[in-house]
Amino acid sequence: MQRLPRSEQEKAWRAQALQVGEEALRAGKVGVILVAGGQSSRLQYEAPKGFFPVGPVTERSLFQYHAEKILAMEKKYGVVLPWYIMTNIYSIEETRRFFEEHGYFGKDPASVHLFAQRMLPAVDDDGKILLETKYAPAMAPDGHGGLLNALKSHNLLRDMRLRGIEYLFYFQVDNPLVKICDPMFIGCHILEMADVSAKTVKKSHPDEKLGNIGVLDGAYTVIEYTELLEEDKRRTDDNGDLLFDQGSIGIHVFNRAFLEAVVSGESRLPFHISHKAVKCVNERGEIAKPSAPNAYKFEQFIFDVFPQTLNICVVEVERWQEFSPIKNKTGPDSPETARRDLRNYFGAMLEGAGYSVPRDDNGNVTWNLEISPLVALGAQDLGERLPADFTPYDGLVLEA
Ligand code: UTP
Repeated sequence: MQRLPRSEQEKAWRAQALQVGEEALRAGKVGVILVAGGQSSRLQYEAPKGFFPVGPVTERSLFQYHAEKILAMEKKYGVVLPWYIMTNIYSIEETRRFFEEHGYFGKDPASVHLFAQRMLPAVDDDGKILLETKYAPAMAPDGHGGLLNALKSHNLLRDMRLRGIEYLFYFQVDNPLVKICDPMFIGCHILEMADVSAKTVKKSHPDEKLGNIGVLDGAYTVIEYTELLEEDKRRTDDNGDLLFDQGSIGIHVFNRAFLEAVVSGESRLPFHISHKAVKCVNERGEIAKPSAPNAYKFEQFIFDVFPQTLNICVVEVERWQEFSPIKNKTGPDSPETARRDLRNYFGAMLEGAGYSVPRDDNGNVTWNLEISPLVALGAQDLGERLPADFTPYDGLVLEA
């Protein structure tokens, strides 16, 4: 487990990892997997979550923001980054149209692969299959762990192999702060000769809804927040620090060869049960989406593959720089907090480039700001791109 670097030695290790990751990127060994097949039941957003207008000023969609980051990395490293996007059967055509209507956000369409995951029936409190219409069962996607089954059934690992991809950067659609293809992270994965890597942040409180990183039978594993016992959530070590203080943020690197071995093997990921709101026919025969959970869905979690390897690399990162998911309609992890965190991120980029930006007593940037990843991914790039007489202002949008 690599905690946030404090000593010079730890910083030097990350600097070395950065170089190694950059070499892998330049050599075309990296592909990108986005899991976007969820149903956004907590957000109660009808369209696929990738359409969500996250940009604080322009309302640029999550998909656009992610695509621009990938394009920026392609430009920086002179490569094509094949992008594999998992949707579900309900959302795949709508998602394809969205990409087409937006010209694939500038990305070569031949390098964007949409595929649908498997769907499973959802059941009610009595275990009876819910109906989506009077004549069809209510189906729900089989979890982000359904990725393995989908990669296999769509023969995508072969496609990746033929393209020379060795490392797959994996992320979730709902986190606008994700550093896609972060070379430092890829480099740590390579230097540690890991099969799988995971990024973590320090949990903000014991009940935070994040998968918990722990060690089980000598190997790192993730215990979903719904499955960690109450007493374990609060358990502390000798220093009084939380024992399970690291939350997994759904950002991984996988070796392609490792995934190939897993999907061709006998073992299967277990199913977990989640209680969610699913659209279905009620007793009066009307189709309705309830506001409260009404259904049990069967989901596989991608991190359940961790115990199949002993080589896992865990890298702690700064939350404000890398993680602000959109899960709920309001409150924590909502569009409001994600936009606040994006403004803070863009503000910090400007500050890092030598400009001053107003902040309130909580340290939050008070200006509305937005910087396209195609302009800059970090403060250093930004400083180099801006003209000498540039002055930032409230409502600033920087587009390529
Ligand atoms: P979440 O577990 O947050 O689920 O997904 P969700 O479906 O987006 O939202 P809720 O729980 O219904 O409110 C984390 C990531 O995993 C993807 C999601 O799209 C998101 O990027 N995911 C989830 C899938 O790709 N397929 C699934 O079956 C479930």
